[in-house]
Amino acid sequence: YQPPTPLVIKKKEEVVVDDGKKKVTVFYGTQTGTAEGFAKALAEEAKARYEKAVFNVVDMDDYAGDDDEYEEKFKKESIAFFFLATYGDGEPTDNAARFYKWFIEGKEARGEWLKMKYGVFGLGNKQYEHFNKVLKSALKLAPFRSGKRLVPVGLGDDDQCMEDDFSAWKELVWPELDGLLLDEDDQTSATTPYTAAVLEYRVVFYDSTDAPLHTPLSDRSCTHLEFDIAGTGLSYETGDHVGVYSENVEEVVEEALQLLGLSPDTYFSVHTDKEDGTPLGGSSLPTPFPPCSLRTALTRYADLLNAPKKSALLALAAHATDPTEADRLRYLASPAGKVDEYAKWVVSEQRSLLEVMATFPSARPPLGVFFAGVAPRLQPRFYSISSSPRMAPSRIHVTCALVLEKTPGGRLHKGVCSTWMRNATPMEKSQDCSWAPIFVRQSNFRLPADTKVPIIMIGPGTGLAPFRGFLQERLALKESGAELGHSIFFFGCRNRKTDFIYEDELNSFVETGALSELNVAFSREGDTKEYVQHKMMQKASEIWDLISQGAYVYVCGDAKGMARDVHRTLHTIAIEQGSLDSSKAESLVKNLQMSGRYLRDVW
Ligand code: 2AM
Repeated sequence: YQPPTPLVIKKKEEVVVDDGKKKVTVFYGTQTGTAEGFAKALAEEAKARYEKAVFNVVDMDDYAGDDDEYEEKFKKESIAFFFLATYGDGEPTDNAARFYKWFIEGKEARGEWLKMKYGVFGLGNKQYEHFNKVLKSALKLAPFRSGKRLVPVGLGDDDQCMEDDFSAWKELVWPELDGLLLDEDDQTSATTPYTAAVLEYRVVFYDSTDAPLHTPLSDRSCTHLEFDIAGTGLSYETGDHVGVYSENVEEVVEEALQLLGLSPDTYFSVHTDKEDGTPLGGSSLPTPFPPCSLRTALTRYADLLNAPKKSALLALAAHATDPTEADRLRYLASPAGKVDEYAKWVVSEQRSLLEVMATFPSARPPLGVFFAGVAPRLQPRFYSISSSPRMAPSRIHVTCALVLEKTPGGRLHKGVCSTWMRNATPMEKSQDCSWAPIFVRQSNFRLPADTKVPIIMIGPGTGLAPFRGFLQERLALKESGAELGHSIFFFGCRNRKTDFIYEDELNSFVETGALSELNVAFSREGDTKEYVQHKMMQKASEIWDLISQGAYVYVCGDAKGMARDVHRTLHTIAIEQGSLDSSKAESLVKNLQMSGRYLRDVW
């Protein structure tokens, strides 16, 4: 299980202080006023957030009288934002022309001394050949290269919706400025609704019906889906994770609407009653969301399918008009005693919030209560990215198994995100394709820096995902002339015909030499189960030799069953092949782990 990353509170860094206040300059190069508007909007919101800082919004033309003055003033900038519009045939705007000349077309070395921390947002239009050219060429030059970019480059596209691009980019700015401008005391109380870059990306390709990912023979289904990140500034590395904010399917939302007995069009916002903004009942309230219709709120923000917490049962009880129902809810929520009804009826039977609400029809909490105390926020789901940016720089590939299971209570549980992915509409099929807010989370699951170091990969089922990325990366490296060390991949699935995902691609990795050896364990083909760890035992001496030569060992997939068994197998191999006693074998495996040569991406 990979819990969502907690809010990262950045270490405070030193910034230039002016009159005791930290200073931030927001530059704009504008033609029709849009860039100016964005610059002012950013500064206004920032002023409200950071009382201890000064924000100056500057028309580039007014910044300095001549080149010397430019230089003089620029040396004093420590944090700056630039809104640069591209105009006409890839030209800077009139008011930025002089600045552009000095800053961008000037000597390469000019500005190398600039160590400012900066963010840039470009305004352009994809319909034109030179989309955001001014911004892109600026970024290649010394001042921007020597400075430190705080947030990914924003690329506003007027052909779509520039306001949306700006809003999404702005959300990336605040966590960074929190780190630079807030005192540590302020930071603990600063609430940022989301932890990281949340932008919407198109689903451009998906495959869940064609072999080899899924066939009618299989009772399981796996989806290969790609998010388009072209031109967004979002980037990833092989081995990273993608966080996906998905949506509840319509039938779940409909059921919730029925149970709440309210119109789907009810438009509302959630906020606290206290004027100073501190949340009611302390800081445990879920993060608020923008004003929207009830249908949208239930679709995007409410976790409706997990088992409700005891506090949610109490909140329901408080609004139950039938006293018998209220009593029963309170009884369920009471502290665990001799008989723990909650553990039995709610937890072990995996009763969803909606099921519980259906059982207590008189409990109809008002919206404020429902979204603050009954339904938790729908959390992002994390997936190991199954591509390499060397092969797919503008697409993030996901390989996702559909979660579809009968709960002990008898409900058919459909996983929120895997169901959303299965139903997603790709761009190839319709202009009106599916979108989801996603962000990239860095991982330490990385190939060795030296391509000659051997690697051992173990990943049955969708545990294959990061290794597909690794192998794509190795193929690209090989094609560019790198020498590759030995590599073995242990893959496992039930049956060659039903769930040997990416079979052709894996075979071609062997043919091209990106992969030296592919070992596949089929668990349901013969009379006895064969798992990846059984294949590993058959290759024990080879594995031991490779580890002795400095190989990295990678495991991805199910934590409780597979990864635990594979761990034991490594231990056994060390005992048998290295003639070690159990405790020496244990410390050897531990050392591998401590030195970063045994890496696990398990859930
Ligand atoms: P099974 O479903 O036949 O038990 C991918 O899910 C593959 O991992 C399947 O072939 C599955 O086999 C197998 N698997 C299940 N439990 C495992 C374990 N503890 N160790 C290794 N593989 C396992």
